[in-house]
Amino acid sequence: MQLNVKHGRIQDETADLIVVNLFEGVVSPGGATGAVDAAAGGMIAEVLAGGDFKGRLNTTQVLYSRGKLPAKRVLLVGLGKREKFGLDQVRQVSATAAKKARELGVREYSTIVHGAGIGELPSADAAQAVAEGTLLGLYRFMDHKRPDSEGHEVSQVNILAFDQAQAAAIAEAVRTGEAIAGGQILARNLSNQPGNVGTPSYLAAQAQQIGERHKLKVSALSFEECKALGMGMFCGVAQGSLEPAKFIIMEHNAGRTELDTLVLIGKGITFDSGGISIKPTDGMWDMKHDMSGGAATIGAMQAVGALNLPLHVVGIVPATENLLSGTAFKPGDILRAMNGKTIEIQSTDAEGRLVLGDALCYAKRFNPKGVIDMATLTGACVVALGKIAAGLLSNNQPLAERVKAAAEKSGEKVWQLPLWDEYNDLIKSTFADMKNTGGRGGGAITAAAIMQNFVDDYPWVHLDIAGMAYGDDEQGYHSKGASGYGVRLCVELLRSWK
Ligand code: BES
Ligand code: MN
Ligand code: ZN
Repeated sequence: MQLNVKHGRIQDETADLIVVNLFEGVVSPGGATGAVDAAAGGMIAEVLAGGDFKGRLNTTQVLYSRGKLPAKRVLLVGLGKREKFGLDQVRQVSATAAKKARELGVREYSTIVHGAGIGELPSADAAQAVAEGTLLGLYRFMDHKRPDSEGHEVSQVNILAFDQAQAAAIAEAVRTGEAIAGGQILARNLSNQPGNVGTPSYLAAQAQQIGERHKLKVSALSFEECKALGMGMFCGVAQGSLEPAKFIIMEHNAGRTELDTLVLIGKGITFDSGGISIKPTDGMWDMKHDMSGGAATIGAMQAVGALNLPLHVVGIVPATENLLSGTAFKPGDILRAMNGKTIEIQSTDAEGRLVLGDALCYAKRFNPKGVIDMATLTGACVVALGKIAAGLLSNNQPLAERVKAAAEKSGEKVWQLPLWDEYNDLIKSTFADMKNTGGRGGGAITAAAIMQNFVDDYPWVHLDIAGMAYGDDEQGYHSKGASGYGVRLCVELLRSWK
């Protein structure tokens, strides 16, 4: 799919379809929509007067121009209430328009930049959001499915800059949006891959390929190499599986010591059965998505490479299955982390904190200015926040605030939970330095409290994305299955770092 930026007036476009928009409750359209209406002899005003289209968010109306415009059809998309309008609505309506165009069998259409010139929205930000929404909206995962009979795809979208002076800035913003959406789509693809395909070796091979394409330094440590480094927690989880574990490391601007270093870490459990503390049958298939944090890390690293950000960025993905077998770790086992601390296993299903703990220890060697980890870590976080926001926990409030600002701008919501000392009492063990679960209450917090034992003194933000990584929502730019959550948030954080 190609996104083209051109300078021109939407009413002059000759495409099969042109896309314009309307706020809820507007009776006489202005701006580009007004210009199309005027050129078409009041066609839009007539529909509004008839009450057929009310401008509600993500609603659409198709109109035929009957020779009054060079374009065959006009698609009206609703922007919703003016006071609720922002960048995420731009993403959503762009996705809605793209999906409607595809449904109509349109292969090429032209659209205005939704949101440009509305309120305080900078045109470039709006254009980036149009690109993101369009690409994410058209996403579907077809690796293992024959295309349906109406399988036509949109191949060209023309984004119109009406102001020549802004055309270059808009074109650049569209390229940025493309790189970011590309990273998010990669994350969706990796996470949607079934466990029998999306193995640790598969993730490592994908990371390698991306590294070659975007000049990243990529390596993957084997089980034995991790063992030699003292990663007893990662190896404890991995020892029950026949599928070789991989500890993946990706680096952008490796060796550029003058640059700030930021580390992204993503949980890479390619299938979580729960291990000996086995999960119930129902819904276990969704545990192929338990590497979504790792997928977001790899997707973000691709975007960081494509955008060539002036930072030293490291992506770490401890990847393994969590299975049961004669060699699997067991409840009661005591594991020793890379930093020497010991942990008593109460549940082999609390495996994410173990593999991430060793990754947090490993991150220390990069002397980072900040470490962000993303993990489908706890069902408790889904209970607390639902599928609306990720849980955020941190040892450093300035970094937490930066992540919150990036969340706001990227439309990937976070909500901070406390990490008070009192929670450490819940993870005390009789036989080891700590245990790996903290009982029923505050499960998302005790998980983070355990992980904090493996954080050196660098600033750290943990994102529990268990509720955000996948779902059944198809509204706007969301698709069924993996969401690719975290890529836009991380890339925004890194883009705005200085
Ligand atoms: N991968 C799961 C968490 C999860 C649950 C992700 C639901 C997505 C949706 C994690 O490894 C896990 O099993 N956590 C346990 C921890 C418990 C044993 C302390 C949980 O949340 O039940
Ligand atoms: Mn688990
Ligand atoms: Zn898990």
